[in-house]
Amino acid sequence: MGYTLTIIGCGVMGQAVLSAIYNAPLANSDTKHFYPQKIITCNSSKASADEVTKLISSFPKSPNGIEVECTYNFNSVAVKGSNVIILGTKPYLVQDVLSDLKGVIEGKLIISLAAGWRIEQLAAFSPKISRVMTNTPAKFGFGTAVIAHSTAVPEAEKLLVSQLISHIGTCIELPEKNMDAATALVGSGPAFVLLMLESLMESGIRLGIPLKQSRECAIKVLEGTAKMAEITGLHPAMLKHQVCTPGGTTIAGLCVMEDEGVRSGIVKGVQEAAKVAASLSGKK
Ligand SMILES: NC(=O)c1ccc[n+]([C@@H]2O[C@H](COP(=O)([O-])OP(=O)(O)OC[C@H]3O[C@@H](n4cnc5c(N)ncnc54)[C@H](OP(=O)(O)O)[C@@H]3O)[C@@H](O)[C@H]2O)c1
Repeated sequence: MGYTLTIIGCGVMGQAVLSAIYNAPLANSDTKHFYPQKIITCNSSKASADEVTKLISSFPKSPNGIEVECTYNFNSVAVKGSNVIILGTKPYLVQDVLSDLKGVIEGKLIISLAAGWRIEQLAAFSPKISRVMTNTPAKFGFGTAVIAHSTAVPEAEKLLVSQLISHIGTCIELPEKNMDAATALVGSGPAFVLLMLESLMESGIRLGIPLKQSRECAIKVLEGTAKMAEITGLHPAMLKHQVCTPGGTTIAGLCVMEDEGVRSGIVKGVQEAAKVAASLSGKK
């Protein structure tokens, strides 16, 4: 007998996770039990619920036969009838949303997507907490997710979380102390990489390459370089030096970039994002 999963707050990230679970390939007899029979999505407005209905109707039938019910103003009823809850509201809404669910959410597994909310704080509502920090490429199956569990989550449910979340792309388990860093590196990471993409693209335009071709070159350079680093497993510094001919163009460009503080700008930017992530749970 399958279980019911509720997604409270089905916006950008909730929809990314919903799409990944709904479209997951057909499970085998060992993994079938990880997939819900039904997903209830909960939003506060009809417009958002309609958006989720439209998203689901754009997909072929779920390979695992998952049914989806898209609702609004339905949090409490949905949670009451569910075994697993994915929390996808903005961090500043978490306190009010969970407080309204006191009495119905206790004892259920909460998978929180919210930045900044620590396991200890979420555990005031239910002891079984899995924190998941993911990012927008998850919408296309190229997301990264970092997961941390509370000690109350049994092994079987840890496996369930990894199995469900793995469909967004890549899934890594880390201790909770790394979650604010993961929020900055993984959650905000796409924006930092897009700044790099935009800069490379504009440098092409500045040097006379048309916009369309500059964009294509910049995207493929980022994609190809990331793939090369992944496939070779080599340290980026080593790969970088392989591109540097003595007295050549690449080393000349790199020296100027280092001089302009590109590296420390990135490191300090990610550090700042982590600092803000740590303060999010207290914000209204
Ligand atoms: N976006 C990112 O790049 C990113 C990256 C990493 C982590 N995150 C985390 O993911 C979480 C969600 O972010 P998001 O960008 O997906 O936000 P979002 O697009 O604004 O989605 C949040 C959803 O929550 C719904 N909602 C608001 N109040 C509600 C309530 N009382 N009950 C049920 N649903 C309610 C909203 O629907 P209505 O329109 O109906 O109010 C909205 O669709 C955040 O906690 C954030 O920290 C986001």
